[in-house]
Amino acid sequence: YVIGVDLGTSAVKLLLVNRNGEIAQEVSKPLSLIQSKTGYSEQDPNLWVEQTMAGLREMLGNFEGDPADIEGISFSGQMHGLVLLDEHYNVLRNAILWNDTRTTAQCREIYEAVGEHRLLEITKNPALEGFTLPKILWVKEHEPEIFQEAAAFVLPKDYVRYKLTGKLHMEYSDAAGTLLLDVGRNEWSREICRSLDIEPDLCPPLVASSDEVGQVDAQVAEATGLSAGTRVFAGAADNACGAIGSGILEDGKTLVSTGTSGVVLSYESSNDKDFRGQVHYFNHGAPNAYYTMGVTLAAGYSLSWFKDAFAGEESFDDLLAGVDSVPAGSNGLLFTPYVAGERTPHANADIRASFIGMDSAHERRHFVRAVMEGITFSLNESIAIFREHGKRIEKIVSIGGGAKNDLWLQMQADIFDAKIVKFSSEQGPGMGAAMLAAYGCGWFDSLHGCADAFLKVEKMFSPDPENVERYKELFEIYQDVYGRTKELNE
Ligand code: XUL
Repeated sequence: YVIGVDLGTSAVKLLLVNRNGEIAQEVSKPLSLIQSKTGYSEQDPNLWVEQTMAGLREMLGNFEGDPADIEGISFSGQMHGLVLLDEHYNVLRNAILWNDTRTTAQCREIYEAVGEHRLLEITKNPALEGFTLPKILWVKEHEPEIFQEAAAFVLPKDYVRYKLTGKLHMEYSDAAGTLLLDVGRNEWSREICRSLDIEPDLCPPLVASSDEVGQVDAQVAEATGLSAGTRVFAGAADNACGAIGSGILEDGKTLVSTGTSGVVLSYESSNDKDFRGQVHYFNHGAPNAYYTMGVTLAAGYSLSWFKDAFAGEESFDDLLAGVDSVPAGSNGLLFTPYVAGERTPHANADIRASFIGMDSAHERRHFVRAVMEGITFSLNESIAIFREHGKRIEKIVSIGGGAKNDLWLQMQADIFDAKIVKFSSEQGPGMGAAMLAAYGCGWFDSLHGCADAFLKVEKMFSPDPENVERYKELFEIYQDVYGRTKELNE
């Protein structure tokens, strides 16, 4: 067996996976957010550790085999969160998370000090509030007495892994989201550190995702029931693990994930393509590989907003009832899903959503379909950017909450004009983490081999030519709406 730990924002989920890729056990422990001010989003790193340990204890309590049969453990982690540690590697303050937006001024400073062109050249990404470097600068400016004590910074899953092994590392796929990594060279950028007066020693040693970085120590073994010496592998960022867990392991493979936010992610073997920062460009968890990624900030969140506002206590199944009788294009009703701003392609936290084309004959089911279509149009903007840069996208793996609904999967096939693949018992990032441990333990020669053995296609959805044409026309109108509504919220 291997264990994949998926440290998310709302929960830490643990999967126990056997040699056939079957899930023997699944445990989830909730995590809460600390939001003391608008735009602030923090978590206590020690809560991650407590809940991970509690999850492991529960898992091992239910495990009927010999704990020594659990050979390895690895991690998927929420990206970008800043964990600051003192010289004894004690946590200095709450972690500032990926969805915390207090750092607009620091993003500006980064552009001024490094230069936009140079930043893109080195990190391949623009300075966004969510990334780690602006958070480091924020603490440096606003909490100098804390910053003075800082001896190292790590990302969320790195801290949990440190507490299990006593060894501190960061791996490339997560380091790519800090804005301190030279992404093409796999090394910390001394130039960026120098430009912003950041001590390079703050950056921990870098490893690859499937590297063995330590073993479960005796105390942790005692507390959880794991066997001391269980091998621990570095793991990867949640999006990189989602890619591994969906078999996005060669050029031409693309993934769409619709959760609270939505992600379109495409494998990239080259380390020097120029997307001009329009999409994220990060190191993969697979060796010597990359991925490009676009983000829809409010994907599932737009639908849950609509449900909460207009359908009260109803379930999603109730909300979606009758939507299949509404034709593609929702009889002229169009929605832009910007209820919480938008990331790709606009990077605008202030833009807000819209419904246009309302008719007195429209019913709630038309609005629900329009919301689903609007979310999918937003994801299609990322796909359009990938295609403009020469990526061939003919087949897309769909995961996340949205992939549980066949109507939505068909809509994705029609809007993306690509075949949509649905896996059976899809587990996303947690499975990716387990696969890194399985590969690290030597069960397979490559992650590819592991994906072939572990991932099973349940169903395929093919684009319907008539709907494809209809949606192409609507997508053009959709793309115009942003510019026409931008000023409403300025
Ligand atoms: C990626 C991002 C999110 C987090 C969520 O850039 O901010 O997808 O990784 O955990």
